[in-house]
Amino acid sequence: MHKVIFDTDPGIDDAMALLFLHKHPEIDLVGVTTVFGNAPIEITTRNALYLGEAWNIPAPVAEGAGQTFDPARGGAYWPTAIHGHNGIGDVPVPDALSREKDPRPAFQFIIDTVRAHPGEITLIAVGRMTNLALALKADPEIAGLVKQVVIMGGAFNVNGNVSPAAEANIHGDPEAADIVFTAAWPVVVVGLDVTLQTVMTSGFLAEMVASGAPEIRLLSDISQLYIDFYKTRVADGMVVHDSCACVYLVRPDLFDTRSGAIRVVCGGIADGQTIQKPDGRGFPPGAWDGFPSQKVTVGVRPEGVLEVIRAALVDARAA
Ligand code: BDR
Ligand code: CA
Repeated sequence: MHKVIFDTDPGIDDAMALLFLHKHPEIDLVGVTTVFGNAPIEITTRNALYLGEAWNIPAPVAEGAGQTFDPARGGAYWPTAIHGHNGIGDVPVPDALSREKDPRPAFQFIIDTVRAHPGEITLIAVGRMTNLALALKADPEIAGLVKQVVIMGGAFNVNGNVSPAAEANIHGDPEAADIVFTAAWPVVVVGLDVTLQTVMTSGFLAEMVASGAPEIRLLSDISQLYIDFYKTRVADGMVVHDSCACVYLVRPDLFDTRSGAIRVVCGGIADGQTIQKPDGRGFPPGAWDGFPSQKVTVGVRPEGVLEVIRAALVDARAA
């Protein structure tokens, strides 16, 4: 059983990933931590609580950062064209929710949970890396106590999606991402190189709805705005960015990886660019030296990933 803390900014593709983590039979979702990104922090937290309530997910929700690791960086832009004004496709959310957030800030929840289960927790982070960087700053020893960190973010052999250089989750807090990638814990980065190839068509989603699993109706409703956005740009369907990172956890064989130290460009026209120095390549002394070798996904079997998602959402235990 994989014990997982899911760090997320729901977020439409985040919502699918959340349902996947909840329903996959080999995953024990022990906590959800929120971060600003697809919407302001109050909204991403409320969405996590709402989805937890709607899908009967027992994991506690701890609210995280509402600004970048370095507050002086400033600047926030909400991708309303992709995720809607409320972060989940403008599907109405009730004013009153039965659930309350955990009293701890996300970074403290992460520290406490990792320390309670040394060597067992996988952190899956699919928003900005702010909470993880804050947890490392407050308690650097957790790096040695975490089993694995799986990140959705970055673009290595392809362009970014918020600039030619940078992907959104990294661009939103480059300093935090650089801290996370250079820490002494094992990191796997699942970026646009593979997620843009992993498109769930609207027909595939409609078939899952027809299967009758009740949670998928809400997921489908939430997803329509996102599908409309991608339809004219990538394909008729959902680019399942965040679910790709979750599928990696249970089926790493569906991905090809490359190892080497990873750094993030902080500032300038390439702000937020992720660059790996592949192991075995010789360069003069430089900014990658002395940092841990991490994994980047450079290849994917998209049909296999989509089938793993379908099986978990449709066939696994009821919510
Ligand atoms: C990432 O940015 C967010 O909009 C998505 O939820 C995903 O985590 C893709 O670049
Ligand atoms: Ca996300």
